[in-house]
Amino acid sequence: MSRRTYPNFILKEIFEIPEVLEKICRETFEFSGKVRSLLRGARRVIFVGCGTSYHAGMLGQIFFEELAGIPTLNFIASEFNSREPIFQKGDLVVVISQSGETAETLVSMKLARENKLPILAVVNNSKSSMAKRADVFIDTAAGKETAVAATKSFMAQMAAIFRMAIFLGEQRRKITFQTKARLEQAFSKLPDGAREILSQSGVVKRMVLKYQKRRQFFFVGRKLNYPIAFEGAMKLKETSYLHGEGVATGELRHGPMAMVDRNLLLIFLIPKDSVYEKNLSVLREARKNGGQVVAIATEGDRVVKRYASEVIYIPKTLEVLSPFLTVIPLQLLAYFSAEVRGYNVDKPRNLAKWVTTE
Ligand code: AGP
Repeated sequence: MSRRTYPNFILKEIFEIPEVLEKICRETFEFSGKVRSLLRGARRVIFVGCGTSYHAGMLGQIFFEELAGIPTLNFIASEFNSREPIFQKGDLVVVISQSGETAETLVSMKLARENKLPILAVVNNSKSSMAKRADVFIDTAAGKETAVAATKSFMAQMAAIFRMAIFLGEQRRKITFQTKARLEQAFSKLPDGAREILSQSGVVKRMVLKYQKRRQFFFVGRKLNYPIAFEGAMKLKETSYLHGEGVATGELRHGPMAMVDRNLLLIFLIPKDSVYEKNLSVLREARKNGGQVVAIATEGDRVVKRYASEVIYIPKTLEVLSPFLTVIPLQLLAYFSAEVRGYNVDKPRNLAKWVTTE
């Protein structure tokens, strides 16, 4: 797709998401022998990354524990290498990075090496330092990403980690072959789901214009959508210089609810899933407290419409796959928020595409 069709790289990269997902579906769900053997040998997995790549690790922790039944930790790279993590036999370190060059993640690899731990890198550049220094790497193959804010590469990271989780799940007999096939089948429908959301980008833009005066945003999500809440908040901060905070839905009542008033906009991730009823109860309370709520919900959900000020619908999918779809409206929201303010959305102030100093 030509850059000239789009006003900037970030919009082009967001609109490339269906193709990225399609490519992942076309390629087999098989990994190389070395990746398989490292995964099989793991007794515990430790994800390490920064920024968006850390958010992919947050989701990775849930995927690996729920689908593969393997104990998993997730670290911000700069915290991992500033502390003295306790390692144990059978630990596998999985570094996640779009660029494969981020300073803190490279230092974390050094720490893992010193402790003789095997390292698997999930990177979007097969020629990067991380790809070279790891025992083995998985190329997320999202294609070159130019905009500073990661969008399609996050999608590809989530996909790689999901594939690792279902591979390991079947190996460890946490899921059956049939379940794995069902998950792969549902995954193959994601490109169409993503396309459907992108075709409604005008709805997100209208919403952004309506709430243009707001400067405080809570991104609220639970379980699989908790990492997505963090990612949505960071995307807004880095593109639009607005205050976005990721909040676990269950934590709202433990403090942040006090901030809820007419000036705060809550972006509520509430797909129809196993935690829907709990989420709805918190959403209703936030609304009762005078909060304005934009819900990201599953198509056909009429109940949420009664309580939210606005609803952005995503197509139906399996619970475990909802993050692949809920994140797209948040990327569009960040994009339009920057666009309506006239900011350079590909190159936000004070930021580099990757960080080379600790
Ligand atoms: C993402 O939108 C950010 N630009 C940033 O947080 C980024 O994810 C982080 O710096 C890590 O980069 P990496 O994935 O290249 O290691």
